[in-house]
Amino acid sequence: MNILDIIDKKRNDLELSYEELEYAFNGFLKEEVKDYQMSSLLMAITINGMSDREVFDLTDIFIKSGETLDLSVVDGIKVDKHSTGGVGDKTTLVVAPIVASLGIKVPKMSGRGLGYTGGTIDKLESIPGFKVDLSLEEFLKELSEIGMVVCAQTEKLVPLDKAIYSLRDVTGTVSSIPLIAVSIMSKKIASGADKILIDIKVGSGALIKDENDAKLLKDLMVRIGDKYNKEVRCVISDMNIPLGMCVGNALEVAEAELILEGQIRNNLYDLCIELASNMVSMGKGISIIEARGEVENAIADGSALEKFIQFIEYQKGSLDDMVISEKTIEVVAEKAGIITKIDAYKVSEVSCKLGAGKLTLEDTIDTTVGVRLDKQIGDTVEIGDVLCTLFTNKVADSFEIVKAFTIEDVEEDN
Ligand code: URA
Repeated sequence: MNILDIIDKKRNDLELSYEELEYAFNGFLKEEVKDYQMSSLLMAITINGMSDREVFDLTDIFIKSGETLDLSVVDGIKVDKHSTGGVGDKTTLVVAPIVASLGIKVPKMSGRGLGYTGGTIDKLESIPGFKVDLSLEEFLKELSEIGMVVCAQTEKLVPLDKAIYSLRDVTGTVSSIPLIAVSIMSKKIASGADKILIDIKVGSGALIKDENDAKLLKDLMVRIGDKYNKEVRCVISDMNIPLGMCVGNALEVAEAELILEGQIRNNLYDLCIELASNMVSMGKGISIIEARGEVENAIADGSALEKFIQFIEYQKGSLDDMVISEKTIEVVAEKAGIITKIDAYKVSEVSCKLGAGKLTLEDTIDTTVGVRLDKQIGDTVEIGDVLCTLFTNKVADSFEIVKAFTIEDVEEDN
């Protein structure tokens, strides 16, 4: 077997066998297949796609590249969640405590952000003292004692995904549906949960821009789940506008807390309720409507907030010591009218430039900075009204962020 024949076969849109996929991908991990050869194969896959059989085989090869977790030592049904990545996506911080407060175990290994989408682990690191790296024993102990855990994914779980993802990130192959499905499902299956909820984001601030692609990805991930006897549900959610009002690490943790306190009702609240209801419905085998009632109650009676605080303290974090930059710049409207669009991609671009995200692997994150949107879609504004506030430790250019807002003339009623 040789890698050039394998690349050629995929370029000609022919199906690769298990052995050929294994030869190429494991060879890459062992550094026998070069990164330029793997890039070429990934591009051929991105252009020509993969059959279901190839996707199942590659998922299996990914899972077998590392260790798998056995969660059976912890009692109860375990439901995991994953998001394909979005701007201002702090849903895990809200959803996991809600679901755990209702008696369903939530074992969550999360990633860091790269590029314009933030990672849950970076957000948690804005809480002083919070421990993101846990041993397997610590992970299992926390899961059985308080019903939830969120920590950084161990290097031992699906190492092939880490290696391939970094290459996809710089070779224009991140948006391939089969490659996304393999990447997500291999990690979720290796993490050992009984049931899995995936939040597929679509829009300008997401990896997937097209609703049809989101549906294809959803069906494919459900079929992979069937193969491994895991119930998989997917929610397709909008990522044309930022999720919630804050983008930036400490700001997002603070917003998650406000949602759990029941103080904010926005698109973030609505999505968190939808995701949590699906997880509770799967975990308890009840209808979504029934689950929704329980979820809303967990916020109203304070039990979800209590679980959130218990979880942060368990992992040694101190919310009281969390810092948000005191240096702020208010960005004002330059025209009057109604806000019809807030571009998620542009907001995240500015937030990254302030230091809230990484543009290269070497960059360091400033967890205290970011953007707070003070106006939402549908609000009418006058010239000089504050559209958003930048929390910054640098001299910031407010011009860029104004471009994220589309303000249209208000139609006069006759
Ligand atoms: N999230 C992942 O974990 N992998 C992908 O390929 C895309 C989003």
